[in-house]
Amino acid sequence: MHEIDGNTRVLGIIGNPVRHTMSPVIHHFLAEQMGDNLAYLPFEVQNDIHTAVKGAYALGIAGMNVTVPYKSAVMEALTDIDDEAAKIGAVNTLVRTEHGFKGYNTDVTGLRRELREAGITVAGERVVILGAGGAARAAAMMCASDGACELYLINRNQEKARALAEAVQNGIGSGTSAGPEIRVLGLEELERLQGNGYIAFQCTSVGLFPNTDEAVTESREFYRQLKCAVDLIYTPRQTRFMKLAEAEGAKAVNGSMMLIGQAIASYELWTGHTVPDQVVKELLGELTEKGLIG
Ligand code: ATR
Repeated sequence: MHEIDGNTRVLGIIGNPVRHTMSPVIHHFLAEQMGDNLAYLPFEVQNDIHTAVKGAYALGIAGMNVTVPYKSAVMEALTDIDDEAAKIGAVNTLVRTEHGFKGYNTDVTGLRRELREAGITVAGERVVILGAGGAARAAAMMCASDGACELYLINRNQEKARALAEAVQNGIGSGTSAGPEIRVLGLEELERLQGNGYIAFQCTSVGLFPNTDEAVTESREFYRQLKCAVDLIYTPRQTRFMKLAEAEGAKAVNGSMMLIGQAIASYELWTGHTVPDQVVKELLGELTEKGLIG
């Protein structure tokens, strides 16, 4: 790593908890490969996100990532917000500008990279989103703006799926395209999903390490309706959701490239440098070797 000196640019992540974050490892690896003099630190913010952002700006901090539970709350503390992040209603990256921080959502950029590398496109496709939390929201917004023709929002708590449907509809309302046909289902009514050839995004926390023998649904009928299964989880490498989908003939991918993709997009915003594909490959190898991704 570059020696810390008077020219070191300070970056970091604000959230609570932040102790499990892999972002310092990722950004220091990128800085080393790219020859940038920067330090990336975890900042556990107990509650006052507004003061934390103001303080970070006053200290000259060059950029920040934002994680749970502040991705929406942080927006009020910013002087500018990128259009797509505003539509999603969540920001995970702050970039220093002349008057304050500007917010971006690179989770979506990461998800697009994941799909690109897996050879999956959502344009003109039927999509299923499982879950209705922050991750599901980013996936749903992306699918709507990238031209999915049908969007099923499926969640244990149907009310939350309905609220997400409304948010997606409002997001489309401010755009130019007509958007997909949106339907909401409770997890217990999965059998009401019609037809097949779906791309499914698994956006719940079910199946995350150490609960690796769990999947959001065991319904073989459901998995048979999928052609692609994208699990946003990256530990373990192969989730039960992915195994069940593969057993019924679907292509399955995990969320490693989304994690890496969001970090790279943030890094590029902060430094103005483009991270070459070779470095991305090496980063993936490094994280796998360290056991940080499955
Ligand atoms: P994130 O920001 O990572 O999306 P979140 O906002 O806490 O996290 O959302 C977690 C998602 O996982 C929710 O959709 C949640 O369903 P509910 O809205 O019904 O709570 C879903 N989830 C968590 N545990 C679940 C379980 N055991 N079965 C089904 N869904 C579950």
